[in-house]
Amino acid sequence: PLIGELDEAHWPRKYPACEGNRQSPIDLQTKKVHYKPSMKALSLVGYEAQAGEFSMTNNGHTVQISLPSTMRMTAPDGTQYVAQQMHFHWGGAYSEISGSEHTIDGVRYVTEVHVVHYNSKYQSYDEAQTAPDGLAVLAALFEVRDYAENTYYSNFISHLKDIRYPGQSTVLSDLDLQDMLPENLHSYYSYWGSLTTPPCTENVHWFVLADTVKLSRTQVWKLQNSLLNHQNKTIHNDYRRTQPLNHRVVEANFKFLPNSELHFYLNNIDNNLEYLRRFIEQKKAKGKRPW
Ligand SMILES: *[C@@H]1O[C@H](CO)[C@@H](O)[C@H](O)[C@H]1NC(C)=O
Repeated sequence: PLIGELDEAHWPRKYPACEGNRQSPIDLQTKKVHYKPSMKALSLVGYEAQAGEFSMTNNGHTVQISLPSTMRMTAPDGTQYVAQQMHFHWGGAYSEISGSEHTIDGVRYVTEVHVVHYNSKYQSYDEAQTAPDGLAVLAALFEVRDYAENTYYSNFISHLKDIRYPGQSTVLSDLDLQDMLPENLHSYYSYWGSLTTPPCTENVHWFVLADTVKLSRTQVWKLQNSLLNHQNKTIHNDYRRTQPLNHRVVEANFKFLPNSELHFYLNNIDNNLEYLRRFIEQKKAKGKRPW
């Protein structure tokens, strides 16, 4: 992706950290992940429904929502982080639907959300962003569920049309981040990396949730096609390619069972049941028996 006039390959010219050896995103290779059951669930405070005014901005690269400092995350090592903002990465170029930044065993997911936090021992994000232990990002990957609209995303997605042009902002009056995250918040991957956009600072403790958020195809399409960049082109594929792991270790607090095939079939069955359910409902609405 382009940041200003600079494409990804040329980031290091202006931002040397971008060619460091602890960069993000990475491919999470499940066979190489270190299982660490002692890593407790993240403690998330203030993530549930909040009334207030949360500004939502098209910054020319993504949609970003400002978060209140009452939202906190405590990492398994006890470090407390304060939420700053959340933003999304997606695909959409050449009708390619996948646009997550982290991949799992080489598979790119549809979308990825980053909830960016700073270490509470610093006074502000500005102060923390250059500190070696400054930042933490909670990330979640998205999958498409064809038939089911995720109503927890309806409000957010309906506001995208109000911020078509870069620099435009709108306000969300309610925000329930817990509902916008995957159902299972317990299982995650963790590693040390960087910001995925310049200045690529290598001070980010990453937490990538193992469970995914599900959106309908229409919702994903709206996310991919609502916003324009500074050249008035639709923002597509705003993800950075995966970076070498080098000597880093990725830890996970869950056992990766070799059941992905089973999972795949269960998902298919689930989708088919949902389709049948809707089919029957439609028939009922027309006053006919479905058989
Ligand atoms: C983008 O489109 C808007 C609205 O049509 C226009 O005002 C603006 O000048 C355009 N910007 C560029 C860079 O073309």
